[in-house]
Amino acid sequence: MSTALYRKWRSQTFDEVVGQEHVTRTLRNALRDDRVAHAYLFSGPRGTGKTSTARILAKALNCSAPEAERPCNECPTCVAITEGRMLDLIEIDAASNNSVDDVRELRDKVGFRPSEGRYKIYIIDEVHMLSGSAFNALLKTLEEPPPFARFILATTEPHKIPATVLSRCQRFDFRRIPTPEIAQHLQHVATEEGFHAEPDALLAIARSAQGCMRDAVSLLDQMLSFGTDTVTTEQVQQVLGAVNDQAVLDLVSAIATRDVSRGLAQIHRLVTDGAGLPEFCQQVVEQLRAVMVLQMTNNAGLLDELPVDTVKQLQVQAKQLDQPTTLYAIKRFSAAIADLKGGFQPQLPLEMALIEVVQGEAVSPATVVVQAAPASAAVAPAAGAMPGSSKQAPAPAAPDAEAAPADATQPPDDAAAETLRRRWGEFQRLVKQKCGNKVSGALNSAKDTAVGAESIVFAFTEQYGPVREMVDNQETRDQLSRILQHLLGRPFQVVFQTGEHALLPNANVVQVEEKKSDAKDALIDYAVSDLGAQVVQEEK
Ligand SMILES: Nc1ncnc2c1ncn2[C@@H]1O[C@H](COP(=O)(O)OP(=O)(O)OP(=O)(O)O)[C@@H](O)[C@H]1O
Ligand SMILES: [Mg+2]
Ligand SMILES: [Zn+2]
Repeated sequence: MSTALYRKWRSQTFDEVVGQEHVTRTLRNALRDDRVAHAYLFSGPRGTGKTSTARILAKALNCSAPEAERPCNECPTCVAITEGRMLDLIEIDAASNNSVDDVRELRDKVGFRPSEGRYKIYIIDEVHMLSGSAFNALLKTLEEPPPFARFILATTEPHKIPATVLSRCQRFDFRRIPTPEIAQHLQHVATEEGFHAEPDALLAIARSAQGCMRDAVSLLDQMLSFGTDTVTTEQVQQVLGAVNDQAVLDLVSAIATRDVSRGLAQIHRLVTDGAGLPEFCQQVVEQLRAVMVLQMTNNAGLLDELPVDTVKQLQVQAKQLDQPTTLYAIKRFSAAIADLKGGFQPQLPLEMALIEVVQGEAVSPATVVVQAAPASAAVAPAAGAMPGSSKQAPAPAAPDAEAAPADATQPPDDAAAETLRRRWGEFQRLVKQKCGNKVSGALNSAKDTAVGAESIVFAFTEQYGPVREMVDNQETRDQLSRILQHLLGRPFQVVFQTGEHALLPNANVVQVEEKKSDAKDALIDYAVSDLGAQVVQEEK
């Protein structure tokens, strides 16, 4: 196997350490002025260059080239360090050598002069892992270091280092590397490796690495191994399980324009496409954060981690949204990320976040806009999409539907459909009142409703199968029938189906265009009072 790209591309000179100029400049000056401290503490997030910089410093201290050129990476000492066989460079991984004995051994040997170079250099990685007594032993060494010894301690958790040790070290805080600088470095690596890469693809990789160069280079490595000669944004998104920026923008735009219906449709599409919902939700939060930054500062320059086109669209949304809503949306969608991990009805937390953000938590009187779709929309799939329905007779609406025979032969009841549309809000309220939160919440998850001559069909998509099962029983169907009779003036048979469309020959489709607070209310009540209990039971 070839060397991992991140090893191959380990920085070998101070100039090659990206994004840590505050550290490398000071170290260079110290070398030039011959004022290198006895002990350094390099702290900072993983994969930001601590070990690399420690080795560069070790080289510079022992390099045999003229001062200004150190480290030269050519002299025998430099080469030996690069190849990991320099005797005077002792690297200790405190994670696995954390006992007092390990440190005592170090102390016993520290007195011996360097065998080849000018300095004997100890790099103690993950130094926060040392035991208490090991720290004490180390402290003794740091208090009276031999003149030729230098210590570089590295840690991702500086707060775990005792103050006594900290006070003996000059401390450098490595920072998370800014996304544009990571992207630029990736561009350099890709080019040197003989590949093309879309700038937005590299930006997406860089963004996902969150300041960690090692992760960024590793991900690039993975992309290059795809075998295509260009790294595309699409590939990156695929590997990251991310959806494309546009899908995220669409949801943020639905929030900004308070278009719940479009937002729910967007979520539905993602579920159908098998997108990772927690990742998607995280992307939504990232974009909402960008909106917040734009609203607070009106400075697009602060969003250099995002593609220019994305920022342009976010600027529009920053004007559409008001600041309190943006902040609430960030909180609400952040909370949804945790809720999204697993569980029954995977997209419910996302849908609830959307609805709550758009409609607010306070309950307001419901206005449900119900809109008719052309009847053909419901009829068309009935004919084509039915696998076992090639018989002569008009196919039953769906394999699992028990529609009345009259539905196939008589025209749909347009008047009833129209009334149901008009009185949809009332219907919902009655259902909630008479059948409880569980049933009303479940009905709100129905994707499509059709009114036939004798039957009314509620269709649930695959994912809502368990919801459908909760309401698909004689008792509930009868209750709903009674409510419908009350509203429509005559009895209808209630039928539940699984599918995108309510399938009923000759049916008139009732499509709820927008579910206002009633819908939201029911969903929440349902989730809290009924669904919570269901989740436990549903899990195997
Ligand atoms: N600042 C940087 N500039 C360029 N490349 C970097 C930088 N930081 C890390 N890398 C890349 O990541 C790899 C690992 O870096 P390094 O070992 O220096 O990180 P670290 O800070 O010591 O991480 P850890 O805390 O996990 O030990 C390097 O080989 C290099 O490819
Ligand atoms: Mg390290
Ligand atoms: Zn050298």
